[in-house]
Amino acid sequence: MATAMVEDVRRVRGARRLRGTIRVPGDKSISHRALLFNALAQGSARVRGFLDGEDCRTTLSLLRAMGVRIDEDGEALTVHGAGAHGLTEPASTLDCGNSGTTTRLLLGILAGQPFFAALTGDGSLRRRPMGRVTEPLRRMGARIDGRAGGTLLPLGVRGGALHGIEYALPVASAQVKSSLLLAALFADGPTTLAGRIDSRDHTERMLCAMGADLVAAGGALTLTPGAALTARDVDVPGDISSAAFWLVAGAAHPDAELTIEYVGVNPTRTGILDMLALMGADVTVRNMREVSGEPVADLTVRSSRLRGAAIGGDLIPRGIDELVVLSVAAAMAEGRTVVRDAAELRVKESDRVGAVVEGLRRFGARAEVADDGFIIEGPTVLLAEAQECHGDHRLAMAWAVAALIAQDREETAIHGASVANVSYPTFWQTVARIAEE
Ligand code: S3P
Repeated sequence: MATAMVEDVRRVRGARRLRGTIRVPGDKSISHRALLFNALAQGSARVRGFLDGEDCRTTLSLLRAMGVRIDEDGEALTVHGAGAHGLTEPASTLDCGNSGTTTRLLLGILAGQPFFAALTGDGSLRRRPMGRVTEPLRRMGARIDGRAGGTLLPLGVRGGALHGIEYALPVASAQVKSSLLLAALFADGPTTLAGRIDSRDHTERMLCAMGADLVAAGGALTLTPGAALTARDVDVPGDISSAAFWLVAGAAHPDAELTIEYVGVNPTRTGILDMLALMGADVTVRNMREVSGEPVADLTVRSSRLRGAAIGGDLIPRGIDELVVLSVAAAMAEGRTVVRDAAELRVKESDRVGAVVEGLRRFGARAEVADDGFIIEGPTVLLAEAQECHGDHRLAMAWAVAALIAQDREETAIHGASVANVSYPTFWQTVARIAEE
């Protein structure tokens, strides 16, 4: 008997008004790290506000597959630290799904383990560059083999005795930086990282709070192994990368006021606030406080007259994941927005340069691919149009934002929309709640 395929489509209609107070799910980067680092620590830790999305669930199940006990009650996760040498050889391939963070951070940990592990992932992840971590990890002494000379998944790692290295990061990637710092915990001497260490710093903050000997000085980070990590409770703040969808929706819609509470505003992550400020968006940041070593605030956005802006330089690593939805703000802004220095967008969950330009054009915008980013000429009379997500969660959500502001108030069909579950499982409920017809 044939089974009916369930259609993976979400339909979003242009809204008359956007209103509401929103809590976004926990930060994806911090959720991964809270599990991975506590798993290597001594003692147990409660993780509250963990992002219950597919990527972080992958990290959780792979840690369990290596013998780490993680309990869940309705309120929090409890990670029972296995200690630095407590992981066990996984009995099967570690499937990292869609998650680059899981893959690259685990590679760093596995490089230091005295056992064999094989990693793979979904079609998107198997296209993403892994040489940026496997090459320096090999220099540290890890034995890594895999497809395309060990630069693409599937990869096999036989870890063991590692040496400290001095390494200048060629790309501003927190995944690479974190992977090497994790491997450095297992090395026989200090590791110093220089070059592009200007990416998000959640790893540095959390490892220091757990007792690692990690020092930042003179544009370099030095980790000296030997100090055992102590488990630390983590209250995960809301993810600014998820809040970004509402910030753009609120700024670009002509009748909007949205408040997003309890959002992480670590300065290495607030590029979106600076980009929107350059574009003239009306965003207020209130109630700044610190939670688990990370700054947190409430954000309010109101309808704004947006103008085009030049976006590049250090704004890029501080807002790399937000450039997808920023493109929707750019389409609605008066004048030209140029995003440059963003070649990394081509190797994310999809080729985000190509996909953004293609999707925006379908909505009626003038958009062009550039060498290391894109150029958008606004303002656009944005009209509802069917869209594809290319297996990329942030495209699905960006197209929903564009759909909410479509001026013809028709329905946009977003195909493959369930991919939003990767980072924001409650996204569609919030769309329905804040959109007034
Ligand atoms: C992340 C780092 C970024 C980001 C990703 C999460 C992390 O990737 O795009 O969503 O948690 O370290 P890169 O390190 O590849 O820039």
